[in-house]
Amino acid sequence: MAVRVVVGAQWGDEGKGKITDLLAEQADVVIRYQGGNNAGHTVVVGEDSYKLHLIPSGILHPNTLCIMADGTVIDPECLATEYDSLVTRGVSCENLRVSGNAHVIMPYHRLLDELQEEARGAGSIGTTRRGIGPVYTDKTARKPLPVRMWDLLDKDMLRQRVEGQLAQKNVILEAVYGAEVLRADEMVEEVWRYAQIIQRHICDARALVFEQLQAGADIVLEGAQGTFLDLDYGTYPFVTSSHTVAGGACLGTGVGPTMVDSVIIVSKAYSTRVGAGPFPTEEDNETGDRIRERGCEYGTTTGRPRRCGWLDGVALRTSANINGATEIALTLLDVLDAFETVKICTGYEIGGTTHGMMPARPELLAEARPIFEELPGWECDLGGIAAYEDLPRPTRDYIALIEEIAATPVTMVSVGASREQTIRRDVP
Ligand code: GDP
Ligand code: IMO
Ligand code: MG
Repeated sequence: MAVRVVVGAQWGDEGKGKITDLLAEQADVVIRYQGGNNAGHTVVVGEDSYKLHLIPSGILHPNTLCIMADGTVIDPECLATEYDSLVTRGVSCENLRVSGNAHVIMPYHRLLDELQEEARGAGSIGTTRRGIGPVYTDKTARKPLPVRMWDLLDKDMLRQRVEGQLAQKNVILEAVYGAEVLRADEMVEEVWRYAQIIQRHICDARALVFEQLQAGADIVLEGAQGTFLDLDYGTYPFVTSSHTVAGGACLGTGVGPTMVDSVIIVSKAYSTRVGAGPFPTEEDNETGDRIRERGCEYGTTTGRPRRCGWLDGVALRTSANINGATEIALTLLDVLDAFETVKICTGYEIGGTTHGMMPARPELLAEARPIFEELPGWECDLGGIAAYEDLPRPTRDYIALIEEIAATPVTMVSVGASREQTIRRDVP
C-alpha cells in the first residue's frame, strides 16, 4: 500500500494529468483533492487526447476507482458534459465517485466571477471565470447554506438552497453590479437536468477513502493548479481559492498526514504562468515566444497564451520545501531541445541581497531580479529516448543542477506528451 500525492510545483499546467495517468496504471484509487473546472489536465493515449477538467486523471484505467473528494468544487454542467463526452468516446465512468460534501458551482458563481473580474479592471486576477472564487467564498461563509452535491439528490432541498442563496445574491447583483436578478425556478430545472446524469455517483467519499486506506489500497491524490496558486502559499492575491499544496491533499480528502508516503512535485523544465501576478523569470520576448510555440503553451481551459520563461530554481526550491517533496517529475524537457543554451534561475537579487527562497512579502517579490546559471543545450530530439543513461550529457547536467537546487531527486523525466515518452528512475 502507498499513498502518493501529485502536486504542481509551479503555477499550474506542469503535466499533472500525464503523471497522474501514469501512476494510475498501478494504483487502485485516484482522488482529486481540490479545485474545480479551473483545471485542465491533459492525458494523451496513442492518437487520443483527453482534456479533463473535473474527473480524476485515472479515469482511463478501467479498474481504477476515481473519487472527487470533499475539497473539490463541482459545476454540474461541466461534470455532466465531461462524463457524457468520455462515455461517448468509449471510456467507462462506472468507477467515478463524487463526494456529497463537495460544494456546487452554480450559475450565480460563474456570473459573479465574471462581474468581479470586470470590476477589477486593470487590476484583475485573470481568473478562469469558472466561479471558483465565489463558490469557495460561499463555502467559508457557511450561511445561507450553499448548494452541495448532496442537494442534487433531492429537488426540494435544491430549491430551498437556491432560494436562500438568491435572496442574497440578487441584492448584490442589482445593487453592486446593476445586473439583472436571477430566477430560482429556471436555475433549479437546469441544474436538476445535469443532476440526473451524475446523481448515482454521489457518495460519502470520506467513508470510501477510509475504507480504501484500511484495505491497503494504492492511492494517488491528484492536485490541481500549482504551489504558487495556493491561497496561502501562492503569490497572493494572484492565486486560486483553494489549497493546492501537498497539505491540501490531506484537507481535501480526509487522508491523515501520517498516511502519506510520498509527494511528487511536477515541474516543467521551464516556467509558465497564465493569468496575472508576479513571474520573476518571465521572458516577455522572443525566447518566451519560442518556448510557447514549442511547448504549445496555450491554456487547456481558457485557450489563453501562457506567459513563458526559464526554469525558476528559487521557486522550485521553495516548492520542494512547502510540499515536503520526496520526488520531482520533470516534464516538457523536450521543449528545450532546440536551444543552444538553457538557463536556470539559481537566486533572486532583491535590493542588493541574494535570496535562495521565494520571499513571502509581495513588495520584495515584485523587485526580484533572477540570477541565472547558463548551461550548454543538447540540441537534439529527446522524444525517442527511453533510458536515463541515453540522455545526452548536457541534459543530465541540467537535471543534476535541478536536483541540487531543490535537494530532491528527479524520478520521472517526461520527453513528450504520450505515456511512452517517460523515463523513470528509482528513488535513491
Ligand atoms: P496539467 O494541468 O498539469 O495536467 O497540464 P496541462 O495538461 O494543462 O498542460 C500540459 C501540456 O503539456 C499538455 O498538453 C500535455 O499533453 C503536454 N505534455 C505533458 N508532458 C509533456 C512533455 O513531456 N512534453 C511535451 N512536449 N508535452 C507534454
Ligand atoms: P491546472 O490544474 C494554470 C489560474 C488562473 C488565475 C488564477 C485564479 O490545469 O494546472 P481561478 O479561476 O482559479 O480563480 O483563477 O489561477 N489558474 C490556473 N493556471 N493551470 C490551472 O489549473 C489553473 N487554475 C487556475 O489563470 O491566474
Ligand atoms: Mg492544466
